Amino acid sequence: MPTIRPVRSASGSHREVPSVVDVCVVGSFMADLVVRAPRRPAAGETVKGTSFATYLGGKGFNQAIAAARSGASTAMVGALGDDEHGLLFRSALALDGVAADGVLSIPDEGTGIAFPLVEDDGQNSIVIVPRANDALTPAHIEALRGVLGAAVVLLQLELPVPTVVAAAAAAKRAGATVILNPAPAVPSLADFAGLVDIVVPNEGEASLLTGQRVGLANAASVARTLCSDLGAWGAVITLGERGALVLDRGDVVHVEAHTVSAVDTVGAGDAFCGALAAELAAGATLIEAAHYANGAGALATTRAGAEPSMPTRAEIEGLVAPLDHSVPDERVS
Ligand code: RIB
Repeated sequence: MPTIRPVRSASGSHREVPSVVDVCVVGSFMADLVVRAPRRPAAGETVKGTSFATYLGGKGFNQAIAAARSGASTAMVGALGDDEHGLLFRSALALDGVAADGVLSIPDEGTGIAFPLVEDDGQNSIVIVPRANDALTPAHIEALRGVLGAAVVLLQLELPVPTVVAAAAAAKRAGATVILNPAPAVPSLADFAGLVDIVVPNEGEASLLTGQRVGLANAASVARTLCSDLGAWGAVITLGERGALVLDRGDVVHVEAHTVSAVDTVGAGDAFCGALAAELAAGATLIEAAHYANGAGALATTRAGAEPSMPTRAEIEGLVAPLDHSVPDERVS
């Protein structure tokens, strides 16, 4: 029977070097040009929108801010353009205390841009134009590997895949716990085999990776498949309104969603990943960390925009009840 187990160390791996920070995020910066509309247009159709706003976003940046707001000492590695948005991102990192020694400015290039469309029910669809993010190469990662000395290294897929693979390899060599959030969705993670400890896809990403429709009913077996393909020991499949399914080595737990009034889901998955990384770096088990991160993801949907919706530890702890280790979970087989 699936059971919530007591605390154990977040990573069984041996560390070669002391951690410089708790969490290092290697990832993207995107200025989000957000449009709200009753629904997304069909091909060839024009729909009248109801509002427009610009926010700082990008999966990497959002996750770094989320980790920092959960109290983790946090660093970011990434690439900004030579423009006003680049300066705004640097100020925002400094405001939340995120170390930016590993953030490059690319001459004559623009900062990444995203075009999220948020529908009236809060759901979103996004087009990204990576621009400066695409200039970050494996050679840069090699040169910056000193700043990768973190207990937890958190990765997504808005940077070029070879760059993310190089970051995973460098982090693994340094003994970090490597978390991969495979977003945006890709059909295969074969290049990451042996380089990832924990994989955190949503339902859509897990579906593309495994070639089957993923929901709560099959999430545990999908999580096992993803772990086995990657050589990872943990997986969390986020399931939106159905919460999250956690595989922590042999243990499987379904974490139920919180009931909140969602206004904008942009960045909810990033809030989850950043909070998860911060909790793991603080010594939580994956199940404990997912329980906490589930609160972060829920809170992020209650506010508009990416960066403004990343919650603080105090806000998350105000929502999430302490985990009861004595209660077995019978909902998932
Ligand atoms: O995950 C949300 C983020 O994805 C947005 O901030 C947008 O920039 C896109 O990259």
